[in-house]
Amino acid sequence: MAVNATMPYDRPRRDAVLDWLQMLTGAVLVLFMWCHMILVSSVILSPKIMNGIAWFFETTYMVQVGGPLVFLGFIVHFILAARKIPFTATGQETAWAHAKMLRHRDTWLWIVQVVTAMIILIMGAIHMWVVLNDLPITAEKSAMRVASGGWLWFYFILLPLIELHVSVGAYRIGVKWGFITRENRPRFKKYETYLFCGFMAVGVITLIVFATMATALSTVQNAALPALPLL
Ligand code: HEM
Repeated sequence: MAVNATMPYDRPRRDAVLDWLQMLTGAVLVLFMWCHMILVSSVILSPKIMNGIAWFFETTYMVQVGGPLVFLGFIVHFILAARKIPFTATGQETAWAHAKMLRHRDTWLWIVQVVTAMIILIMGAIHMWVVLNDLPITAEKSAMRVASGGWLWFYFILLPLIELHVSVGAYRIGVKWGFITRENRPRFKKYETYLFCGFMAVGVITLIVFATMATALSTVQNAALPALPLL
């Protein structure tokens, strides 16, 4: 394949700064997602614990201020990453051809990152909009939401996508910035898989707990309704 070796490349400093910002916003979002999963999954231990954590974050205004900031970070991270995403059909065909030609796991991981990013951008924005417009957060309200409409399916799609994006993203940050070297790469690949499987397991259990809670809450509500008089 012909490569244009004379291609002008006069803004290395600006690109380095943007790359660094992309890594930084990505790392912050990875940390946020891990904290978010731990906090939401506290419902597995007890709905009271989840309510207590939500109450703490709301009375300290961390949800009201932090939520929109996460949203902003989410958009900035996407715009920075979009510099390298091929949006045209020709660009996509070239990226696909390169991945097939190189046959390297990390090139495929980059394609995974791009595809998951597009879907997460839409689904994550919908999720944040719905949750942040329905404060306060309570385990009971979350359970009823998860069990209503198509939300359970929505989360069963978003969960693997976000876990894949986060674990691959953490691994790629390590490779790009030199923490993961040729020698320790197999070990970190294993960590990346463990991370994905661990968070997936916790996420799926959380969704099952929400769905079971919603069924129990509906049963209690129905039992509390006065019986209709028989005509
Ligand atoms: C703005 C900050 C956010 C808040 C306050 C928040 C809050 C919540 C809450 C309360 C739930 C429980 C379910 C519900 O109530 O509908 C939940 C679940 C979930 N959220 Fe978020 N979220 C935020 C950001 C995000 C982002 C950025 C993503 C990924 C793009 C995300 C992905 C998920 C997933 C996958 C679940 C299902 C949980 C599981 O299976 O363990 N959230 N979130």
